Amino acid sequence: MENVFIMDHPLIQHKISMIRKKETGTNEFRKLIEEIAVLMGYEALRDLPLEDVEVETPLETCMTPMIAGKKLAVVPVLRAGLGMVNGITTLVPSAKIGHIGLYRDPETHEPHEYYCKLPDPIDQRQIVMVDPMLATGGSAVAAVNFIKQHGGKKIKCMFIIAAPEGLKRLHEAHPDVQIYIGHMDRELNEHAYICPGLGDAGDRIFGTK
Ligand code: PRP
Ligand code: URA
Repeated sequence: MENVFIMDHPLIQHKISMIRKKETGTNEFRKLIEEIAVLMGYEALRDLPLEDVEVETPLETCMTPMIAGKKLAVVPVLRAGLGMVNGITTLVPSAKIGHIGLYRDPETHEPHEYYCKLPDPIDQRQIVMVDPMLATGGSAVAAVNFIKQHGGKKIKCMFIIAAPEGLKRLHEAHPDVQIYIGHMDRELNEHAYICPGLGDAGDRIFGTK
């Protein structure tokens, strides 16, 4: 599938297996989510544009490549996406950060918006939307809709675990968006949870429930 990238790095796979374990506590879970975001970000950002700039070394002046263009924008989908932000800013410390607040209705599984604040202007920036889970895809489609409504054009989405249903829905709704997935899981259950998954990502990151 064009614009869909499934990670196969062994370190990413190993760490995803660690976060699946039900006995992995909040502290370790948070650290692992951040580490996975670093590793996935490293892969997802390999096509960032470069431009040659003049630099003076202790020996001479040279032209040398640096990241070109406006500062990148990281956009976590609240709450669970917050756990991935530091992973991306470890790689790109100058990144701006936007927030999109969405929660899934427990009955209908439909996303509800409660907050949206993005760096302005957004149209020229590379945007990296982050959320650990892509389940039905409802939240991701809504989040990308918001970003596009605000003028966002160059959009990458990163998910640590995805269900086939969610990937299909997001890719069909936004075929221009580059989608990065740590691991493709089997299916959704009747409560729209990803199986085998890791449970509720927000609760596991923030220690709620
Ligand atoms: C989770 C997750 C995604 C969403 C995925 O958030 O972080 O945003 O569910 O589900 P979907 O693909 O079916 O829309 P949740 O709604 O549980 O909110 P929370 O992060 O605040 O706990
Ligand atoms: N949100 C989660 O946190 N986990 C799932 O399995 C599905 C949606």
